Amino acid sequence: MKAFGIALLAASLALAADGQPSPQKQEADAVKACADAVLAGFRKIAPTRDVRFEGKVSEANALCRGGDRAMQFRDTPWVDWSNYWGTGDDSSLPKLAPVVSKAVTARGVAGALIDLEFQRVELIKFNLFDNSGTYEQFINGHDGTPGPALKVWPEMRLKPDNPAFSQVGGDGPQECKGSLIRGRTTTGICNDVLNPAMGSSGTLFARNVEFESAFPESSPAVFTRNRHGGRLALLQPDPQVISRRLLTRIQSDPAACGNGFGLPGNSVSANCDYKKASFFNVLAAYWIQFMTHDWFSHMEEGHNATEMMKTGCDSQLVNGLPTPLTPDQVKELGCRPDDQIDKGYVADDSAPGTFTKDGHQYLTRAPKVMANKNTAWWDASQIYGYDDTSVRRVKRDPKDPAKLLLEPVAGQNGGYLPVLTADDPKNPQWAGQESAAFPDNWTVGLSFLHNLFTREHNSFVDEFRRVAAKTPNADCGLRNPANPKKVIRYKDVTPDDLFAAARLVVAAEIAKIHTTEWTPQLLYGEPLYKGMNGNWNGLLGTGDPDVSKALSNIIVSNFGKSKDATKATQWYSVFASGPGIFGIGSKVHGYDITKPEYTNGGVNHFGSPFNFPEEFVSVYRLHPLMPDLLEYRDLKKDPNKIAEKVAVINTFEARATDAMRTRGMANWGLTLGRQRLGLLQLHNSPVFMQSLKLPRLDTKTGQVDILALDIIRDREHGVPRFNEFRRQYGLRQLTSFDDFIDHSLPAASPDRREQEETVKTMREVYGQHACDASKIITDAQRNADNSPINDCLGHPNGSMVDNIEDVDTVVGYLAEPVRPHGFAISETQFVVFILNASRRLFSDRFFTSSFRPEFYTTLGIDWVNNNGPGPVMMEKGAPNGHKQPVLPMKRVLMRNIPELQPELDSVVNAFDPWARDRGEYYTLEWKPRHGAEADDTFKSPAATTTAAAIK
Ligand code: HEM
Repeated sequence: MKAFGIALLAASLALAADGQPSPQKQEADAVKACADAVLAGFRKIAPTRDVRFEGKVSEANALCRGGDRAMQFRDTPWVDWSNYWGTGDDSSLPKLAPVVSKAVTARGVAGALIDLEFQRVELIKFNLFDNSGTYEQFINGHDGTPGPALKVWPEMRLKPDNPAFSQVGGDGPQECKGSLIRGRTTTGICNDVLNPAMGSSGTLFARNVEFESAFPESSPAVFTRNRHGGRLALLQPDPQVISRRLLTRIQSDPAACGNGFGLPGNSVSANCDYKKASFFNVLAAYWIQFMTHDWFSHMEEGHNATEMMKTGCDSQLVNGLPTPLTPDQVKELGCRPDDQIDKGYVADDSAPGTFTKDGHQYLTRAPKVMANKNTAWWDASQIYGYDDTSVRRVKRDPKDPAKLLLEPVAGQNGGYLPVLTADDPKNPQWAGQESAAFPDNWTVGLSFLHNLFTREHNSFVDEFRRVAAKTPNADCGLRNPANPKKVIRYKDVTPDDLFAAARLVVAAEIAKIHTTEWTPQLLYGEPLYKGMNGNWNGLLGTGDPDVSKALSNIIVSNFGKSKDATKATQWYSVFASGPGIFGIGSKVHGYDITKPEYTNGGVNHFGSPFNFPEEFVSVYRLHPLMPDLLEYRDLKKDPNKIAEKVAVINTFEARATDAMRTRGMANWGLTLGRQRLGLLQLHNSPVFMQSLKLPRLDTKTGQVDILALDIIRDREHGVPRFNEFRRQYGLRQLTSFDDFIDHSLPAASPDRREQEETVKTMREVYGQHACDASKIITDAQRNADNSPINDCLGHPNGSMVDNIEDVDTVVGYLAEPVRPHGFAISETQFVVFILNASRRLFSDRFFTSSFRPEFYTTLGIDWVNNNGPGPVMMEKGAPNGHKQPVLPMKRVLMRNIPELQPELDSVVNAFDPWARDRGEYYTLEWKPRHGAEADDTFKSPAATTTAAAIK
């Protein structure tokens, strides 16, 4: 870093000597600031949670990395790195001589990555709270090993009722062997061979927040009571009132929207207004629904517990007190007091145990715990199954059992998934849908993605069969742990072996698409492009010397110089290996498939068994991404023309299957690829979701407001409210609703006015109270002067303050007015993601030490690495300045829906709207690319909403 600073200084001086316009004073200040920052050295990883990095750097660092722009931002609650040089679009690039600009941009982007790494390491250190009984060991250690270095837990043993109990060792030491370790198992057991139960279906959701801060409605913890002053309950503040007042999409012409149903005959005159993200398409929205169905589910076979409960539309705050709504008010709001829904499952709500360390008392788990009914692994279980019931919906092709069953559909190219039969396990509302392991909330996007990846599975099998026919006696790479020395030739591979290998390949491709294609488009800017490629390849393998050097400095100054990851601490290996699939273990020589030190050697759980935390589910409640109407296009007629406006609700459940089969994969690909998705903001949730009819509900209305339900479910799961949520994750707290206004916007700008209106509404919905400075409300952070944070949040004792502490997390993250450039999610959602997205790669041996031909076949490894058969294909030009391979989702689409090839030719990232001009450097502009000038969506100026909204 020092050398880097000096080089930069030299570059600036050279510039002056060349007679070029000398850099502005600001630049000179920045260079001095860089030198000061270098002299001050790297900050240390925080020893305790209350002094952790909050994303706010020193003045010198801010100035060095982003000049005045970053300095102006320092007083806000939001993180600094988004205002560094090069972290936005063209306008974030310094306008200096090329050599200086390049150096300055590099220091901005490297600075952002350094900040993000500090956040990630501190998140790993402070935010892992396992509910399954291991937390005491995490704090106190076990047999002399410190908690964060523990790798095996008795709580992760299989129980006697598990069919594989004796196979893994029964009551003795448990270790998965033989057929149990060859591939991904249905229930997810034996991913970690020494912790067979970890991540398997039915294990408990974890937490990322202190147990005492969860369940703020009922927690006896004194901080929690002080924080909320007895104001909260499951339906308090009223979730339907919150939905109607803060989440509803305002319609300029309600008749044209038809309550989200559009107009008869799918008329193109229909219109439901929504705020659109210019750089992210509807395919991306369905992608994340597809992902969540792989990762987690609170529901079992599409239902919750049997007991029903009300969902609000009962009261609103008047003078700080809940007051019943009058019939007129109900009418005006449009909510429904008679809606009911099934209560969520609770796995255990008995009182948790306690233990002490250093005089501090801890809970052993959260007061209530819920089970993840899905496997937590990234194992494509939405396609292949996660328990005995779901796996019965997964159909193999009787003609070649290595394949999944696809059938022809009249008038369409390629195969389509079969429809559920009378014999398949199903809920009545799923009748008529395609057969899929995870069938709930079936949409046309899920239908598209399930069909696509089923085709991909079969494409891999076809290619394997082609190679096998050509070289039947060649070693295919696979090994059987029961007979590890025996070479398995192509011709020896059984259909079951090949099916298992194809599943591994499809799951790894999905993980790669999500990591290197979907996420860099979700967080559209240079830091995350580099960061996500680092997540896959290992951060030190970003190919960027400045970044690697800076990250090495963090390691060395905190964790010593050992290059031997097996000897170094678990922290060091985060950086040494990267969590990516090239992690430690995947390249060792003399690999022995029977030995856990090889198969398992690359995983790292950081002392806490892997499962998703409830907080992760909360930040994936992304229902605003959905538009109400799909802009349907016909590829053969004219891709530029919106031929129909099809209501999303009319493509729900069996109607999705019907829509897919009658209109075909290619047309749906084009439709979802070209349309922009909805911004994650307040007043931008789908109209149809507020009145969703769920046939399974035997209630007076048969309907439910899914947006109100999102709030209720988070409360049932004990997710802390927004402000404490931020503190727990090491983000800066807000001190009033006014922090939801972006004060850098001109006073008269429409965005600013809208934010001010929203803040007024929040004040009415969530209320205010007279504060009491004697009440300490948290131990997660402290004030800048080291004093504890109290109920007044810096306002005078006794004054009326906003109930900012009560804002639901979903509402808070949608309200965040300032977001890093190109971020489709908010900063708060992002921080949850940094921690958990890395962990689900770190913890999975199939993405680390078992990413090897012995499991995947040699063809499978090459397929994942090269994004398909044959060598890597390179993208044309240098998008955003990078020479890069043709990305994996684009290749999956081209391979399996060949009709889309001409359309995809000019697409770089399959999740960027396909007709958009991507410009030179991370532009968010809504401009047509060459050849798509006639696209209907560029005609109306009202259609361009975004760039101003996302900053
Ligand atoms: C037409 C589109 C969609 C419909 C009709 C729909 C409907 C639903 C319904 C009925 C629930 C169950 C609520 C409950 O009882 O707890 C739910 C849960 C959920 N949805 Fe959606 N959804 C849609 C799209 C999406 C998308 C695009 C996402 C993006 C990630 C998403 C994320 C979630 C999550 C995270 C949950 C909670 C699951 C859990 O608790 O395990 N949904 N949705």
